[in-house]
Amino acid sequence: MSRRDDPVWWKEAVVYQVYPKSFADSDGDGVGDLQGLIDRVDYLDDLGVDAVWLNPVYESPQADNGYDISDYRAIDDAYGDMDDWERLRDELHDRDIRLIMDLVVNHTSDEHEWFQRSRREEGEYADYYHWVEGSPDEPPNNWQSVFGGPAWSYDDEREAWYLHLFDERQPDLDWTNPAVREEVFDMMRWWLDRGIDGFRMDVINMISKTEGLPDGDPDAGLTGAEHFMNGPRVHEYVGEMVDEVLDDEEVLAVGETPGVSVEDAKQYVGPDGDGLSMVFQFEHVTFDHDEHKWDAGDPSLPEFKRILAKWQRGLADDGWNSLYLNNHDQPRMVSRFGSDGEYRRESAKLLGTLTHTLGGTPFVYQGEELGMTNAPFESREDLRDVEALNYVDAAIADPETDAEEYADVREAVEAMCRDNARTPMQWTDEEHAGFTDGDPWIGVNPNYAEVNVERARADPDSVFHYYRELVALRDRDLLVYGDFELLAPDHPSLFAYTRTLERDGTGREAGDSGVPTERALVVLNFDDEPATFDLPDDVAVDGLELALANDDVPEVPGRSFDLGPWEARVYLTPDDGAATDRHPDQH
Ligand code: NOJ
Repeated sequence: MSRRDDPVWWKEAVVYQVYPKSFADSDGDGVGDLQGLIDRVDYLDDLGVDAVWLNPVYESPQADNGYDISDYRAIDDAYGDMDDWERLRDELHDRDIRLIMDLVVNHTSDEHEWFQRSRREEGEYADYYHWVEGSPDEPPNNWQSVFGGPAWSYDDEREAWYLHLFDERQPDLDWTNPAVREEVFDMMRWWLDRGIDGFRMDVINMISKTEGLPDGDPDAGLTGAEHFMNGPRVHEYVGEMVDEVLDDEEVLAVGETPGVSVEDAKQYVGPDGDGLSMVFQFEHVTFDHDEHKWDAGDPSLPEFKRILAKWQRGLADDGWNSLYLNNHDQPRMVSRFGSDGEYRRESAKLLGTLTHTLGGTPFVYQGEELGMTNAPFESREDLRDVEALNYVDAAIADPETDAEEYADVREAVEAMCRDNARTPMQWTDEEHAGFTDGDPWIGVNPNYAEVNVERARADPDSVFHYYRELVALRDRDLLVYGDFELLAPDHPSLFAYTRTLERDGTGREAGDSGVPTERALVVLNFDDEPATFDLPDDVAVDGLELALANDDVPEVPGRSFDLGPWEARVYLTPDDGAATDRHPDQH
């Protein structure tokens, strides 16, 4: 079956990710909230996005900014209450914007009632988490937490160890226990009954652990990962979840799956897999890491292209790609993959061009549409993220750390820490970028006077207006469903490709243009230096017209291109209207 034989709204959608803590604060406590987001729903509508993925707003002690949930059926006071949430849902739905909620079920907070009861060994709760008895001096195995240090903590109350693949305040649920699975499925039904349109599933490929919890290979990256990433029963659990709760293709289910290969992804996605809509793979954002993210090097463009092309081809017929270059866990994409100084604006547009012209569903992370950049973190006191703080504290605690190593730690934190993505959304050039009237929970990026929504909306040449055009381009079936072909794979600075959509298969006639297939040609110069690109002989340019570019460029392509620094061009065969009105009930 060809993937365009099976159209569904989320394949044609652009999803906007809101990190609520940093989006907009309505009550002056320095923390973003639901009312702040409700006040900005028109902004999202103006951008043209089709869905919002809301990072966790559930009740939480906030050890990991809401990824430590103490009540799945309540909204955290910092964000508002259930009435606010319902108003948000309705305001979005009134504008045909769908709402995707975060599903965090690998772990809970240690303050969740289940954990409290489990620690007291109350009835069936005793087995809701991974508990191991033994000497308080020696953890049950050598697994490492993703946030650094051992993945085990000793609980004095129960006198046993419990597993936490993340922070010690995030104990892992034991998915081998059918009662745990039923609790999770019930909770998911509860949210679906409240009218949500899907879930983004936090580290869903980590829910199954190897039976017996054996030691991991100490020389293989994150110790123990082979026993908890894509573990032995994960497809059984995810498949059960889909059968029990998500057996409606209209519900978007996007799994966050660190460390998956294309082959792994196929097992999660699509009708021949477990039935998820798509996954977030990490290969294109981690390929330049050495041992861990703090060792990230300079991403090489040919390697980046090779990886993205592999995913484009790999999921072309029996799967679906998600498209992202940053999110709340990654540095700002314009700082990591673009050029955030002189060419900030151009490179932000170029990177957006990439994510909106590949096959798959684009995810836009808040502020990306302004070209927001990484922020300077002058000292430990400026940091908020538990992962970065653990990393810095480990360096401080190590008596062997010398001045040079401190400088490396600082550089790594500035380049890679998650707080880069979490600085407040920049709305205006007023104090605190218009994010709050109070003291923001994390510092505002000092470039807010130049980079902000108000200014971007007033400037027709801004990244924001370019993004509006990118989002609108996704109305073309060609860009959603077309076949992908990479050109010039080894070119060190150019990323060029075609997209092609054969009309047969869609059941539609060839357009009035007489062009039998729809075609796109995308050429992107990932460099501060100009570059020349000669089209391969087998790529036709007849019928192609300029659809979008971030500079003044010819309306029709020649066979040789001279591209300026970070220049991006999209040429398309004309739209004869076939793509409009494709799902009138869904748009
Ligand atoms: C992935 C989430 O995106 C991240 O923010 C969180 O810290 C971990 N999972 C643990 O829930």
